[in-house]
Order: sequence, then C-alpha cells, then structure tokens
Amino acid sequence: MSHPYRGGFAPVTEEITAFDLEVTGRLPAELNGRYLRNGPNPLSLDDPASSHLFLGEGMVHGVRLRDGRAEWYRNRWVRNAAVSRRLGEEPRSTLTHAGMDFAANTHVIGIAGRTLATVEAGALPYELGYELDTIGPCDFDGGLPGGFAAHTHLDPATGELHAMAYFYGWKHHQHIVLDDKGTVIQTRDVPIADAPMLHDFALTEKYVVIYDLPVTFSMDQAQRGAPIPYAWNPAHGSRVGLLSRATGEVRWVEVAPCWVFHTLNAYDDGDQVVVDLVRYPERFVDARLDLGGLPTLDRWRIDPVAGTVTETRLDDRAQEFPRMDERLTGRPYRYGYTAAARSLNDVLGPACTELEDLPDEAFDNTLIKQDLTAGTQQYRQFGRDAYVGEPVFVPSGDAEDDGYVLSFVNNPDRGAADLVVLSAQDFTGAPVATVHLPARVPLGFHGSWIAD
Ligand SMILES: [Fe+2]
Repeated sequence: MSHPYRGGFAPVTEEITAFDLEVTGRLPAELNGRYLRNGPNPLSLDDPASSHLFLGEGMVHGVRLRDGRAEWYRNRWVRNAAVSRRLGEEPRSTLTHAGMDFAANTHVIGIAGRTLATVEAGALPYELGYELDTIGPCDFDGGLPGGFAAHTHLDPATGELHAMAYFYGWKHHQHIVLDDKGTVIQTRDVPIADAPMLHDFALTEKYVVIYDLPVTFSMDQAQRGAPIPYAWNPAHGSRVGLLSRATGEVRWVEVAPCWVFHTLNAYDDGDQVVVDLVRYPERFVDARLDLGGLPTLDRWRIDPVAGTVTETRLDDRAQEFPRMDERLTGRPYRYGYTAAARSLNDVLGPACTELEDLPDEAFDNTLIKQDLTAGTQQYRQFGRDAYVGEPVFVPSGDAEDDGYVLSFVNNPDRGAADLVVLSAQDFTGAPVATVHLPARVPLGFHGSWIAD
C-alpha cells in the first residue's frame, strides 16, 4: 500500500445526514451558522488520485448550529464531472478553466452568501448549496479570467476578498479582488518566471504580500508521472513581493530559501511590513513532501526601502494550520491558533507508509494558542488517537480572543468525530461544548465558520 490515506487520513466511504446531534456542555446560542471543513477523501484507494494527499477528491463536512442546538451533520463529496459520473449522477456543468476540472479539496469559504469549495493551481472553485450539495463550478458569473485560489483573505474594513491565482501555463500570477457582493472587480497579472507554486499569501492595509519561492512547475516531474509536478528549484531564487494595493506596483525583496504554505497574519508597521507565517527550511525536494524539515512559526519584517527581510523565530515547536481573529486580518494583532505538527512531513510523504500511527506522530493531538505580545503559548492536548486539525476562531465579544475555537476531534472511544467548541480565553479548560457526530471525520485541510 503506497498511498498516504492511512490513520487519521483514512477516507470515509459514505455520505451521511444526521439531525439533532447529541451535545455535551452548552452550545452558545449566538453560534448560528455552519462550521464547514474540506479535505481529500478519495472515492477509491486504487485510483491514481490516492497517490498524494493533495489529489484526493474533496469532501466537505459540515455541522449546522442554531439556538444552542446542533441541528445537523452532513458530509458530501464535491461533485466535479468525474465524481458525478462515479456516483451515477449527471455532471453539473462543463465549465472549466483550461480543461482543468478538480473536486476542490483544500478549503471551504463563504462569499456573499455563497459557499465555495476551493483549490489552487488553475482549477475553478465549486459552489455548494447550504446543505453541501454541489451546484457547480464557479467563475463568478464570468468574472474570473482563469482559476482561483485555495486561500483567500478578506479585508475586514472594505469587505473586499483578495485571492492569488497561479497556473503552470501562465508566465504570471494573478491578483484577484472581489467586492462584498462576490463580483470580481479587479484582476492584476504579476509577471513571475518558472510558474512557482503559491499556496497562500498575506494581506495588509497597503499591500498584497506574494511569496515567490523556489518550488516551481517541473516538466521533468510531470513526464515522470509525479503526482504533483512541482519541484524544489534553487535556480529560481527566493523573494517576497509587496504588491501595492493602491498602484499595483510590486517591490521585490530577497529572502533566504524556504517554503511557506500558510500565513498567520500580516500588517503594516510604518514603512515596513510584518508577516507571520509557518516556514519550512526546504520543501518539495523531487516533488516529495516529506523532505522539507519541520515547520516553525516565524516573523518576517520586510523593509522595502532597505530591501531587507529580517527573520525571527516566534515558536520553534513544529506547527501548521495557523488561524486568527479575522476581524484583524492585515492589522496588528496579538493571538494566533495553530495545530501542533511534530512531523507533518511524515504524514504527507511516501515515507509515511512505514508508520502505523500517523496522527499521533504527526499532529501531537494538540492545539496551540499563541500570545504574540507576551511571546507565550498555551497547549490544549486531546489525548491518544484524538487527532485534531485546524483550529477556526469564531468571535463573540469585542476583545480579540473573546470567542470560540472550533475543530473536529476524533473520539477514539466512539470511533467517530466530535466538533469541539473551546473558549479561546479558557483554552486549556473544559470545552464549552462538544457535539457528537455519528461518523469519523478524516484529518483534512481547511474550513470556515459561516454565520447565517
Ligand atoms: Fe492551506
């Protein structure tokens, strides 16, 4: 067996609908909406799509909360044309960008009342209905010139949603802005050589921060049949770009070679820009994910006048899936939330096939609250086999950490998942509420709280 869908990543085989879920504790009545999370869930472990965690067909898991009750749980595959056919259904649409049709598996977000499953590298997002049924591929009513992005950032002041699209056939990356009605109001092409991968970016009040790092499209890897035809390419160089939101000009500054999947947050500090991110010392050697070293939480202070990046380690414990209070996206902030990842690489790469107990090895079953002002961390452990993924912060009061942290946590006693609701201000205390789901939720990627 050479696929990575083992342990906590083992896929589920059924779509389930369950109502009036059992709750331990007291669900806050103000939580009216849906907690949704996307991740790869291959239809079959015999398919080529099962060869890499980034390629499994997307499945969105959702819990609807209302008036202190957990109204329903649903899990649904994202139905691109191929998934539709496999499930005996008619494809929704033939709309694609450049013929790429992928069952988006990376993130699920709310935009102007719509629900979108997103993925990067050139394919369109898929729009889902409120109850997670697939509506079809989405190009924002014709406004999108190419593909979209897995990660987006909403400017809390303007309501604009920013995205960075890339595609192996382009000689540029594309910055996309949607207004608060979900209309594409601006696209800008940023010339970049070698078609590098770009998983996430950062947003400040003045800039879109673009990582141009040495993981580039590899025709050699593609011809050799590599599942992800991107490779570490030292000749490409490493730099970070500050795209002026006002003028579209880009100021590039060199940075030490590394790989970045995720941004925690970023903000302007006078003429300088502070970016907090999860950094790998090296990544994607020969398109393998397991050779990049351990991810640490780092701060980059970019000085566009001096042309320098000053790097500081905020926390050297391995961690991933950084989230924060998105009311402060692009602004100075204090708190972050991450999942510990002692060796995420072991999970993501072929080397993982030797390991029988991946989640505990990889994730430590621990969520971390970062206090960046104090420089301290709190650790919330969930215990043996209680594998836990990305922590999503949902605000409640005005204070930055007055709110809840939501995540799916495996309950090994039941062989099923719980939706755990923590108080962000009592991070290591008993959960505020635990919603008991009727089935496992495999480890996955990203999700959102989408308020009604
Ligand atoms: Fe991501």
